[in-house]
Amino acid sequence: MSHPFSLQGRVALVTGASRGLGAGMALGLAQAGAHVVLNGRNPAALQARQREITDAGGKASIAPFDVCRRADADAAIDAITDAHGQLDILVNNALTGVPRDFFDISDDDWRASMDSALDACFRLSRKAAAGMVARGWGRIVMISSVNARISRGTNTAYITAKAGLEGLTRGMAVELAAKGVTVNAIAPGYMATDINTAFRADPARYEWIRNRTPMKRWGTPQDLAGAAVFLASDASAFITGQTLVADGGMTIAI
Ligand SMILES: NC(=O)c1ccc[n+]([C@@H]2O[C@H](COP(=O)([O-])OP(=O)(O)OC[C@H]3O[C@@H](n4cnc5c(N)ncnc54)[C@H](OP(=O)(O)O)[C@@H]3O)[C@@H](O)[C@H]2O)c1
Repeated sequence: MSHPFSLQGRVALVTGASRGLGAGMALGLAQAGAHVVLNGRNPAALQARQREITDAGGKASIAPFDVCRRADADAAIDAITDAHGQLDILVNNALTGVPRDFFDISDDDWRASMDSALDACFRLSRKAAAGMVARGWGRIVMISSVNARISRGTNTAYITAKAGLEGLTRGMAVELAAKGVTVNAIAPGYMATDINTAFRADPARYEWIRNRTPMKRWGTPQDLAGAAVFLASDASAFITGQTLVADGGMTIAI
């Protein structure tokens, strides 16, 4: 009898899995039995994560490519599908971009934010979903943010891209619902990763976020593993187009 959360026999691609939340989710998916394909732009960093998973008895390989380079991303999906015969799960997590005040955002900054946080997710999802529909089973998980709905200033381009990503999630979910493919999002709260090292280094800002979070702590990469496994597995079979908020209670507190 197989467990509804089991990912045995599934192949998952996690973008931006060389560190931070992507690495945490990749480990969680591997612990649930998936073969995890780790993406990022630095092969050495990916190999280190791969070793961690395989040393612990999991299955992992690497696919170094820049998610913003369309031809490379398309080729990577083809290569993964050729190597494994399937790609069942896609976690769109990779992100590049620098937060800036509204009047400091150049057209190039804006484009760069949209490229990784929205456009790349659209293109990878379209490519991966074609194979999922053909096989009649698939799971796409978008990594959004609580900032899709609430702003702390200095990240308007990011907020816009994440709000768009949740729209993409709902749009794709309806179109793919009858084809065996679910599309959901996870909206993390404030999680301690490299992306916010400078922000956390300011004790006032670190404490502001900690105190604003009812659980009185920053999240960790491990905190997203359960949500990712749930949305990638049969356990979430009747759930699509939703955003699962993992924020220690931040967005439901006054
Ligand atoms: N940390 C938080 O508080 C928080 C909160 C809400 C949402 N999120 C979301 O969670 C996701 C992960 O964030 P994180 O905090 O884990 O960030 P992170 O620690 O900076 O990790 C980003 C990952 O993405 C990879 N990456 C960046 N640009 C890439 C590209 N163009 N192509 C392929 N890989 C790329 C990086 O590896 P390389 O640089 O080696 O390529 C790295 O593995 C993002 O979507 C972010 O918006 C984070």
